[in-house]
Amino acid sequence: MSNGQRSMTLRFLAEPSDVNFGGKVHGGIVMKWIDLAAYANAAAWSGKYCITAYAGGIRFVAPIHVGNLVEVSAKLIYTGTTSMHIAIDVQASDPKELNNRLTTHCIVIMVAVDGDGNPTRVPEWNPTEPEDIELRDSAIRLMNMRKQIGEEMEAHVKYLK
Ligand SMILES: CC(C)(COP(=O)(O)OP(=O)(O)OC[C@H]1O[C@@H](n2cnc3c(N)ncnc32)[C@H](O)[C@@H]1OP(=O)(O)O)[C@@H](O)C(=O)NCCC(=O)NCCS
Repeated sequence: MSNGQRSMTLRFLAEPSDVNFGGKVHGGIVMKWIDLAAYANAAAWSGKYCITAYAGGIRFVAPIHVGNLVEVSAKLIYTGTTSMHIAIDVQASDPKELNNRLTTHCIVIMVAVDGDGNPTRVPEWNPTEPEDIELRDSAIRLMNMRKQIGEEMEAHVKYLK
């Protein structure tokens, strides 16, 4: 059963093992945190096991430094039949100052699956607040734009050996 939780924030401390030679957190580590937050949010909304179908629009706005407190916030902005579109923003701060700044944002699409790994229905989200309606409409526009990008990418997949 869904507990209907629409958003959540996961927190991490950037450790020395997370950083690259320049002392900044690896993009891959940030993407892992994003995936974890998207999964937890989708599982909490749907009450089901979920898998990542798509992650995109990722923008690394500012670096995260070792020792930073990292907050990965996930929020459901659209539900399809089996998919949940989750907006993610990543903020970081020096924990001594708690001066949060945006470092990354993106959209992740999670799909709920049943015990056989097949997509399964998720509870519908119906926005009522103007801000939520705007986010939902933006998710729909992005979905249509992705269809065009997907068709364009077919040319690349075609030549994969
Ligand atoms: C996600 C997956 C189950 C979808 O399978 P599928 O055969 O395309 O299933 P469907 O056509 O029924 O699509 C299921 C949902 O996924 C969505 N979806 C599928 N491919 C998508 C893509 N490239 N981008 C965005 N959404 C996508 C569909 O729109 C659909 O949503 P809806 O039910 O809300 O309309 C399948 O592609 C898969 O198993 N992928 C691997 C996932 C994985 O291993 N993730 C870990 C990270 S590597």
